[in-house]
Amino acid sequence: MSKENNRLADLRENYEQGGLTEAEISADPFLQFENWLSEAIEAGVTEPNAMTLATASSEGEPSARTVLLKGLEDGSFSFFTNYNSRKGQDLEANPRASLVIHWRELERQIIIRGTVSRTTREESDSYFQSRPRSSRIGAWVSQHQTSAITDRSHIEELEEQLQKKWPEGSDVPLPPFWGGYQVKPDYIEFWQGRPSRLHDRLVFTPNGSDWHLGRLSP
Ligand SMILES: Cc1cc2nc3c(=O)[nH]c(=O)nc-3n(C[C@H](O)[C@H](O)[C@H](O)COP(=O)(O)O)c2cc1C
Repeated sequence: MSKENNRLADLRENYEQGGLTEAEISADPFLQFENWLSEAIEAGVTEPNAMTLATASSEGEPSARTVLLKGLEDGSFSFFTNYNSRKGQDLEANPRASLVIHWRELERQIIIRGTVSRTTREESDSYFQSRPRSSRIGAWVSQHQTSAITDRSHIEELEEQLQKKWPEGSDVPLPPFWGGYQVKPDYIEFWQGRPSRLHDRLVFTPNGSDWHLGRLSP
C-alpha cells in the first residue's frame, strides 16, 4: 500500500456529539430540518446551505455537484441554476433528484429524495433580483453553463460587454434560461453520527397526507 493509502486507511473520526431518538425528533420533517439548520447556523458551519445534488440522465447516467439551498417553502426544497446545464438537462428528462447535506461540525447528514419541478417565473425573478448585480450579470455570462469553452478570456470579455450593457443602477433582467427548481421530497433521512459506527438514522416517508417515521440500521 502507498503512503497515501495508508494515511487514508488511518483517517477516521469517532462521532460522539449526541444522538437522535424517536422521542426527540419532530413529527414534522420540515420542522426538524429547520431545527437542524438553525443549529448548524448557530454552530458557525461554513455555507450550511451547501448541498450535493444528484441527478441522472434519461439513460441513467448519474451526476452530482454542489448547489445552495435557497428556500424551504410549501414542503419543497429549492435551489437556482441554469436550465441548460447538465443538471438542467437531466432534470428535464428525469425529474427526480437526491440532495445530501453534511454538517461535519455537528456530525450530521440529511438525505432527501424527491420529484423536481421548476419554480414559477415570479419566484425565480424575485430571487434573481435579490442577488448582487455581479451575480446577475454572471448568470448571463454563463448562458451556456457546462458547455466546453476554449479559454477564460472568452467569458471575461463577455462579462465586460454585459457590464457596459447593464451599468450600475440599471435593471438586469431574469435570463430565460435561468431559474429555480424545487424538490418535493418523498424520503427525508436524518443521520446523527454515534460512537462505534452505530449511528442514528431516522427516516420520514409519506403515509397518506402524513409522514411515517422509521429507523434504519446504521
Ligand atoms: C459551494 C458551492 C455552491 C454552488 N452553488 C451553486 C448553485 O446554487 N447553483 C448552481 O447552478 N451552481 C452552483 N455551484 C456550481 C455547481 O457545483 C456546478 O459546477 C454547476 O452548477 C454546473 O453543474 P452541472 O454541469 O452538473 O449542471 C456551486 C458550487 C459550489 C462549490
